[in-house]
Amino acid sequence: GRVALLMGGLSAEREVSLKSGAACLAALERRRVDVHGIDAGRDVLDRLGTGGFDRVFIALHGRGGEDGAIQGALETMGLPYTGSGVLASALGMDKLRTKQVWMGGGLPTPAFEVLTADSDFASVTARLGLPLMVKPAREGSSIGMSWVESPEHLAAAYAEAAHYDREVFAEAWVTGAEYTVAILSGEALPAIRLETPHSFYDYEAKYRANTTRYHVPCGLDAEREAELRRLALDAFRSVGGSGWGRVDIMADAEGRLWPIEVNTIPGMTDHSLVPMAAQAAGIDFDELVWRILETSVG
Ligand code: DAL
Ligand code: MG
Repeated sequence: GRVALLMGGLSAEREVSLKSGAACLAALERRRVDVHGIDAGRDVLDRLGTGGFDRVFIALHGRGGEDGAIQGALETMGLPYTGSGVLASALGMDKLRTKQVWMGGGLPTPAFEVLTADSDFASVTARLGLPLMVKPAREGSSIGMSWVESPEHLAAAYAEAAHYDREVFAEAWVTGAEYTVAILSGEALPAIRLETPHSFYDYEAKYRANTTRYHVPCGLDAEREAELRRLALDAFRSVGGSGWGRVDIMADAEGRLWPIEVNTIPGMTDHSLVPMAAQAAGIDFDELVWRILETSVG
């Protein structure tokens, strides 16, 4: 059938999505798929409606593409699409509600507090400790996020995050190691450990720097890695995720694991983590993209 591949879009992660989309498009073309890239602007539904497509590969990141909006429109049009459905997409985009769902299901996640312009920032730092992270609830690629080391920086960090979303929260920082676990067709792939000289794995470390180190195998013994992968799957399923995705998890100094977020349409650029995890599982990039396309079936 004819496949539409949605990329770009209108979110703050547009540039990342254009790269993910170009890489996925090339992979599907190598597999002789009749695939057509569409930059998802305001006319995207018209273009999908008139294009004679049988299914849709979504390579959009951020709001409008990864948050259930396009997924809902595609449901209404009766067009099958890759990845998670409306609810999981909306939840996964919203880090605050993801954490609330995890807590409701008994999963661990670092302590947090919602911030508003009226918050008593001094008491927030007293309760959560320092350093802490300030995050817009619904962004990706670390956009709008700040690592706060001293109380007097919290107000500026709040203002920065509030620029991206009306909902902002502060999250206790977990000192230890950062892992990410890719999920493909109901299975967790080998975990990756991230090591960056930046204070956290920020936009620069994700896409521009070549100083970030990726460890796969991640360095945990087999039993601990199995625990990490199981937790990632639980965290993904508890928001209703399906098809494919990626869960980011911190480990503290005692080795306790703290899921921090779910990505329902993770990056697929040449710097990205899911392709790296797939490679470690013996799945090359083209096969990975093919298998993601298959998640649109049924
Ligand atoms: N939000 C970016 C694309 C990621 O999670 O990989
Ligand atoms: Mg994210």
